[in-house]
Amino acid sequence: MKTLTINTPSCQSTIYCGNGAFAERTALLKGKNLFIVTDSNVYRLYKSHISGAFGDCPAYILPAGERSKNYNQLLKILSAMLKAGVTRSSTVVALGGGVVGDIAGLAASLYMRGVNLVQIPTTLLAQVDSSVGGKTAVDFQGVKNIIGAFYQPSEVIVDPLFLRTLPRREIRCGLGEIIKYGALDKNIYASLCKNARSLFSEDFFEGITYDCIAHKAAVVCADERDTGGKRKTLNLGHTTGHAFELYYKRKSHGEFVLIGMYYEIFIAKRLERCENNYADSLISLIKRVIKNIPAYDDAGKAAEFAKYDKKNTQTSLISLIAPAREDESVEITLPAQEYCALIAECARKLKEKT
Ligand code: NAD
Ligand code: GLY
Repeated sequence: MKTLTINTPSCQSTIYCGNGAFAERTALLKGKNLFIVTDSNVYRLYKSHISGAFGDCPAYILPAGERSKNYNQLLKILSAMLKAGVTRSSTVVALGGGVVGDIAGLAASLYMRGVNLVQIPTTLLAQVDSSVGGKTAVDFQGVKNIIGAFYQPSEVIVDPLFLRTLPRREIRCGLGEIIKYGALDKNIYASLCKNARSLFSEDFFEGITYDCIAHKAAVVCADERDTGGKRKTLNLGHTTGHAFELYYKRKSHGEFVLIGMYYEIFIAKRLERCENNYADSLISLIKRVIKNIPAYDDAGKAAEFAKYDKKNTQTSLISLIAPAREDESVEITLPAQEYCALIAECARKLKEKT
């Protein structure tokens, strides 16, 4: 098991990563005042692990899926915490994917102005990204992550044990964020290129998890509150990914990140902000994970939802993070109309190819 520490002005967060992390770390939690938040799928699959590790402690089980990441469910979690007698000495354990981590993290930050939080991510996406760094949120009035807080977990327990039950589609979502890290970090990029034919193998994604977390931890230490320009690099592909997620809804976050990266690399290439060979190599990695990038007829209209992106300084200017060359990303800021036209052009080009 490897460990990593994030030291920020607000707190210290330790990440325990590797086989056996769940058994070893939860043995230290057993018997404490715990409140578990999980979702219906994770509960069904890991009921015996949960009772074995934590005994009989109060829990809230969210209906699985992004649609539960909302204000009503947040209030239900807070009500259940109050009813269960959660106090300032309690610990909220978020056991699940990014949806559970984001909403339980926000509940922990609000209840009594903040109680201890432990993240136990069970999806690849949550292990490589969302459980680390303290961003918590719910979606509100159709806008993603618009109500939230920075709230660091005291610990994050990352154990590949949970990945064995993940459907291939969820592995794909995690690989989306891993390719994002590849576009920011040349060592991760080199590993992706070397293992391009075996990205879906457990050996690959379990091995690369620590490297992604280490990249994120360094960024969070440097720019915890996303104000210094460094943390927004982690949003590569997300401007368009989030806009499409809001408009089309049918796919999951990680799939839209892959699609968003494809469209944004097209823009970076078209505006000559990304080296051609590098752009092509990232595109071929993306296509190994998601074969058919959708050529949406109304992509330009969907792109209008990028006006809600938190990187924008005004709604008429859209900001996106794109790869420039190995180890280097670039922020591209465009008038909304130009951005939407480029997204529509990318969709047209995709259609011509099919
Ligand atoms: P998710 O939490 O909805 O999990 C995906 C599916 O996998 C769900 O159906 C879930 O029940 C199931 N699942 C979870 N663990 C499982 C397991 N071990 N075996 C089988 N099935 C399992 O989605 P996600 O992809 O983990 O996370 C996406 C969310 O994370 C989005 O809401 C996104 O906005 C958020 N996110 C947050 C950050 C952050 O920094 N806070 C970063 C990236 C993404
Ligand atoms: N997932 C983006 C961030 O944590 O900043």
